[in-house]
Amino acid sequence: MKRRLLILIIAAALGVGVAALSTMVLRSMQPEKPQVLSGKALIGGTFTLTDHTGRRVSEKDFAGRFMLIYFGYTFCPDVCPAELQVMSAALDQLGDKAKNVTPVFITIDPERDTVKQMASYVTNFHERLVGLTGTAEEIRAAAKAYRVYYAKAKDDASSTDYMMEHSSIVFLMSPKGEYLAHFTYGTGVDKMAAGIAKFL
Ligand code: NI
Repeated sequence: MKRRLLILIIAAALGVGVAALSTMVLRSMQPEKPQVLSGKALIGGTFTLTDHTGRRVSEKDFAGRFMLIYFGYTFCPDVCPAELQVMSAALDQLGDKAKNVTPVFITIDPERDTVKQMASYVTNFHERLVGLTGTAEEIRAAAKAYRVYYAKAKDDASSTDYMMEHSSIVFLMSPKGEYLAHFTYGTGVDKMAAGIAKFL
């Protein structure tokens, strides 16, 4: 047991060291102009996915519209449905003002979240909610563009009844596809509605 603990401590120390070093390296690699350091340049980008009606779509199909994007999965027991409910309620609260905001749910579990599964799921939340799925590679690329982390929960890896670990962040993108704001998990309906309204 003691030996295991020691190994853990050494591993943790190494981890901290590596993290500190990579932060230093990243800082030294970043350009000097401060505006380049903002999140705007880092979040979002191109994607090619399939919507819940089976249509192939890319970011170009959403041009001219705001996108309120959330990455998750339909088998998620609590976090995803809660977040999608907050998004939907925030849009409903804004009413006509939010007409030009498209809520988008991108799965990080393409293995189970087929077009059919997405179609039956999105209708539970908002009549305008667009569900997007794709191949494992397409989903990986989309999640990477939005700096979204996801992974199959280790203990469940061999089961078909697995859980997914994933970041839970709602992104607001401009009609030009640029990052505007994000809302972390736990943001209430009023706060999200106000945060969106600022940009409309
Ligand atoms: Ni979830």
